[in-house]
Amino acid sequence: MNRQVLLFIALLYQNSVFGQVSYSIPEEMSRGSLVGNIAHDLGLDIRRLVTGKARIYTRNSDDYVELNTEKGFLLVKERIDREALCPETVLCALDVQIILENPMEFYSVTIHIKDVNDNAPTFEKNEMKFKISESAITGAKFVLQRAMDLDQGINDVKNYELKPTDHFALKLNHNANGYINVEMVLQKPLDREKQEQISLVLTAVDGGEPQMSGTMLIFITVLDANDNAPVFTQSTYKALVTENSPRGTVVATVSASDADHGSNGKIRYSITNTFDTVRKVFEVNDENGEVLLIGDIDFEKSRHFEINVLASDDGGLTDSCKLIVDVQDVNDNKPKINIMSKSTVVSEDARLNTVVTMINIEDLDSEENGNVKCFIGENLPFILKTTTNNFYSLVTDSEIDREKASDYNITVTCSDEGSPSLSSSVTLTLQISDVNDNSPVFEGSSYEAYIVENNTPGLSLFTVNARDADWNQNARVSYILEDSSVNGVPVSSYVSVSADSGVIHAVRSFDYEQIKDFHFRVKAQDGGSPPLSSNVTVKVLIQDQNDNPPQVLYPVQTGGSLVAEMVPRSADVGYLVTKVVAVDVDSGQNAWLSYKLQKATDRALFEVGLQNGEIRTIRGVTDKDAVKQRLTVIVEDNGQPSRSATVIVNVAVADSFPEVLSEFTDYTQDKEYNDNLTFYLVLALAVVSFLFITCLVVIISVKIYRWRQSRVLYHSNLPVIPYYPPRYSDTLGTGTLQHVYNYEVCRTNDSRKSDCKFGTVGSQNVLIMDPSSTGTMQRIQSEKNILDEPDSPLEVRAFIC
Ligand SMILES: *[C@@H]1O[C@H](CO)[C@@H](O)[C@H](O)[C@H]1NC(C)=O
Ligand SMILES: *[C@@H]1O[C@H](CO)[C@@H](O)[C@H](O)[C@H]1NC(C)=O
Repeated sequence: MNRQVLLFIALLYQNSVFGQVSYSIPEEMSRGSLVGNIAHDLGLDIRRLVTGKARIYTRNSDDYVELNTEKGFLLVKERIDREALCPETVLCALDVQIILENPMEFYSVTIHIKDVNDNAPTFEKNEMKFKISESAITGAKFVLQRAMDLDQGINDVKNYELKPTDHFALKLNHNANGYINVEMVLQKPLDREKQEQISLVLTAVDGGEPQMSGTMLIFITVLDANDNAPVFTQSTYKALVTENSPRGTVVATVSASDADHGSNGKIRYSITNTFDTVRKVFEVNDENGEVLLIGDIDFEKSRHFEINVLASDDGGLTDSCKLIVDVQDVNDNKPKINIMSKSTVVSEDARLNTVVTMINIEDLDSEENGNVKCFIGENLPFILKTTTNNFYSLVTDSEIDREKASDYNITVTCSDEGSPSLSSSVTLTLQISDVNDNSPVFEGSSYEAYIVENNTPGLSLFTVNARDADWNQNARVSYILEDSSVNGVPVSSYVSVSADSGVIHAVRSFDYEQIKDFHFRVKAQDGGSPPLSSNVTVKVLIQDQNDNPPQVLYPVQTGGSLVAEMVPRSADVGYLVTKVVAVDVDSGQNAWLSYKLQKATDRALFEVGLQNGEIRTIRGVTDKDAVKQRLTVIVEDNGQPSRSATVIVNVAVADSFPEVLSEFTDYTQDKEYNDNLTFYLVLALAVVSFLFITCLVVIISVKIYRWRQSRVLYHSNLPVIPYYPPRYSDTLGTGTLQHVYNYEVCRTNDSRKSDCKFGTVGSQNVLIMDPSSTGTMQRIQSEKNILDEPDSPLEVRAFIC
């Protein structure tokens, strides 16, 4: 213990004060610690203390010290806390009086209490909070709380420390009254975005030994300042939108961020384009940056948009970005077909590759959606040719024939290559104009017309008809009779043709016996320019009428003299007496002759061959039979009505000529004929002479004519149609012939000679049905017969029955 005893011999203030002594002790000494040897220091005897009943007197202080009278020591009675005893003052002293009695004396003792470092510096609060804007500039000061230390002097607060020192430094100001003002100075700018909360520790230390310290926490909240602008994640955004997308479609989302906090970091988006085109179509959601469609988007109007988007925070800081929107085409436009020029009529003789129509195609879409192909229907004589881009021409591709198709509806269809493809079509109507490229055509390759002879002139025979496939005037057909001659006479004197109607009229009355047929050509000519024509042969066949009666050639009916056929009395049954020969200049049935016995002296003796006119005996001749036999034979043709002729045949049944003569001499005196003898004779003479002459003339002329006709027939090689009249079929069974033949014979000598010839001919004749060769065959045989008798100017004509 470091005790310091100060002894002051002081002049008494009062009489009773004898001395003054002072001690200095540290505070906080334990009880009973020695403060000072007061008896010694005051020079008092220990006994005196006892006798003087020395005691301590304090005015107001508690009893900190006590007096040990036995040893004369002043002891610590109670722990002395300097800070409690004299908190304010630096010098702290305890004044005590020691009072003695007998005699009264008192002594003043001053006990100086020395400070001991028993208190650490303390802060009033153990933490401090600051809110400092990050925008605070360096050098900014913040006053901190001072630390207190109950100790005094050197034990008082001596220094401060602040940790960490990143942003702040301490500044201590020692002011006049010894306190230290503590300040914190910003040395480095704050950044809320890096560190929002900063904790610091302020430590205060005193100067005692051992040193003591106290701490205080400083919490700094860095307040945000709008020191960060919004930043877009990309400076350029790209987006693709298909045209015709509905309104409200989100095209893209732009995004910006702001490091600031709160309203300083709250971003609003806007579009800054000044052109309406963008603003009418796009809108940005100011909160989330979604760019929406608010208008119609049409690729054909704009294919590309550049949208400037601005992001701004509440503090007015901004960033901008560009949004490039490409519009994607949709096949929403049909191809448009424009007809640039067209002809409505094309001639059927148009050359190949004649351009009929030119077409221009437009499709507003692009690429495949705008690639257009056009085509027309199949089986048309036209094709579509494409020349340059989107230009088509419709040209003729093959020959056009108005007669096959007079008009065309050509549908041109154009479709693009989009998916789905769009197409449109147009129908072109094309008329084909006529060219005179077809001749009139007759219905048949040749015609045959039939007319019955003895017609009235002007009778219409026939109508020819030709058609022309062309149109209108080119198809107007006129009929013209072509010049030719018939038997040396112009054909126009036979027939005429009506130019308009093609009706053929007979100009004259025809006689079958003169002309059986003839032919001519009729030309049909159209009205085109130049006209086209064709012709046809018309053959007119004149049909026979039964206008001629049969004519009997044999026996010749002479006027005066009697001619009789001789039959010997020895004649057998079937003896050929004679043959009635007759001709009919008509033909066919009209010339088929039949012979009948009309009257006879003795009907039982003779018969007449129905077809051949042969008169034969039908029984043996007896002596009773009259010498003179008179037969009347009627010759009829088969016409309708039939015509006939009669002939009288005288037959003498006798063995010798004188017998006949004698018989015939009185024949005239025959009673049977006496009545009309004169009349008969005159009549017979007249008739016979007339008939003979007529017959001769007719026969000669007919023969000449037939000879000529047969020449024609031979050359034309026309078929002779075999014809069997029903009544004349071989039903008799009497003859040797397979068929019945009718011969026309014209000769001047004896008819009997012909009999053997008939047999020859008949036995050789074979029916040949080939129509083309029949006539020829017959003719060959006839000619052969002629050759058999070269001296005879005979003509034989054979008919097949
Ligand atoms: C073309 O069309 C018209 C009118 O539609 C019609 O009268 C005509 O018959 C058509 N022609 C052809 C060849 O189809
Ligand atoms: C009649 O037509 C034929 C072909 O059918 C032709 O050869 C001839 O020349 C024509 N005659 C006339 C006079 O036109």
